[in-house]
Amino acid sequence: MDKFLISGGRALNGSVAISGAKNSALPCMAAALLTAETVTLHNLPYARDIITQRRLLEDLGATVLTPELRTHKINAAHIEVFEAPYELVKTMRASVLALGPLLARFGKAKVSLPGGCAIGTRPIDLHLKGFELLGAEVRLEGGNVVARAPQDGRLIGAIVNFEKVTVTGTENLLMAATLARGKTVLHNAACEPEISDLCELLNRMGARVRGSGTPTIEIEGVEALGGAQHTIIPDRIETGTFIVAAAITDGELIIKDCQPEHLTSVIEQLREVGVNIEELNQSTLRVTRGTALRAKNVTTEPHPKFPTDMQAQYMALMTQAEGEAIITETVFENRFMHASELQRMGAQIHLNGRIATVTGPTKLTGAPVLASDLRASASLVLAGLVAQGETVIERVYHIDRGYERIETKLRAVGANIQRLRESVTAPLSEDAAPDATALAS
Ligand code: UD1
Repeated sequence: MDKFLISGGRALNGSVAISGAKNSALPCMAAALLTAETVTLHNLPYARDIITQRRLLEDLGATVLTPELRTHKINAAHIEVFEAPYELVKTMRASVLALGPLLARFGKAKVSLPGGCAIGTRPIDLHLKGFELLGAEVRLEGGNVVARAPQDGRLIGAIVNFEKVTVTGTENLLMAATLARGKTVLHNAACEPEISDLCELLNRMGARVRGSGTPTIEIEGVEALGGAQHTIIPDRIETGTFIVAAAITDGELIIKDCQPEHLTSVIEQLREVGVNIEELNQSTLRVTRGTALRAKNVTTEPHPKFPTDMQAQYMALMTQAEGEAIITETVFENRFMHASELQRMGAQIHLNGRIATVTGPTKLTGAPVLASDLRASASLVLAGLVAQGETVIERVYHIDRGYERIETKLRAVGANIQRLRESVTAPLSEDAAPDATALAS
């Protein structure tokens, strides 16, 4: 398993380009299953989850060509398998996004239940209830979800009220409804920019979707969808991570190819704690620290509020801010796994259920730490950049799932970070985590 070795204490300076959004690329790739024609996606990030999603599409029978870097041409004319197996779902929960398109186009789908994960239990009950409302019969069989459309193989439009905002649940239902007979209305739908990006692709494919980016989305079902070309939006969480990297190291970064309006709440929050964020143009930010950082409370909530995917990075930043910051996580249970690792580096963090209180500023010192999930790993990298001495982060396969070569981008702006490629030199131990096995393939 690869590790990162970071020698902290260097201010970052220079410019960094943001990659395409992983969380937009995954549903857009799944959407290609809705048509027999070719869907071409540009600006895909080179991240492990994208490779896993590509493998899933190919396992189902799709052809995926990469005519140039970061472009995939996906053709799902000959789908032969209608199942996302446990081996893939356990490494990447977003494999459940195959369910909606398969059910809509072929009237049948089987997906292994994702089960728990490092950031708590993550059920898909709301996806399944939605499919049932669209007329599907959904059964649990040997750890799998087996779904079937009504007799003639076509779903029926319906009104779906989500009890809770769910991003992939909204995406799954959206995709399923595009080919349903009649109209579907999704209430309390997720408003994340990745939903709007998916809707833009679906409409280019011939779908009739209105209201994306709002909590009410209307989908008028059509008989068939066609091919399309689409460019994935920039990754707002990678953008936020680099803003924090500039601030935490007291450096100056020009962040290019981003879309600042997708992270308004993050930019506002960071400005309030003392980070200077200047919009040089529609896709470029200049970030400097300016004054000393001040602690400020934050609560994670669905878009457009502060995203849970920035909570861990914000916690790392608050270790360097003056005062007490109360961080409340409302989206996921058990999403403070990074806190104990930050404490090992000297951070003062008190945990009480879904509330973390960070008292700063503290001088962090390098230590061996363990990455537990994707965004937790990002926060440890950020802490390592400002810590005195050497930090070794184990299990960086988590960060590789969602960030495109983060160490290369950080090194280019002055960070002292190296990847220790253990996977090349040492065989994987038998108790290696499942994601690590996926990495080795
Ligand atoms: C997506 C993102 C992830 C982000 C999260 C919240 C992708 C691939 N991943 O994950 O990076 O952290 O949104 O912004 O886009 N829930 C249920 N039942 C369901 C579905 C969800 O109870 O059927 C709960 C979850 O346990 C969680 C909350 O709803 O507490 C939000 O989860 P959801 O928005 O579905 O997260 P993901 O789509 O899995």
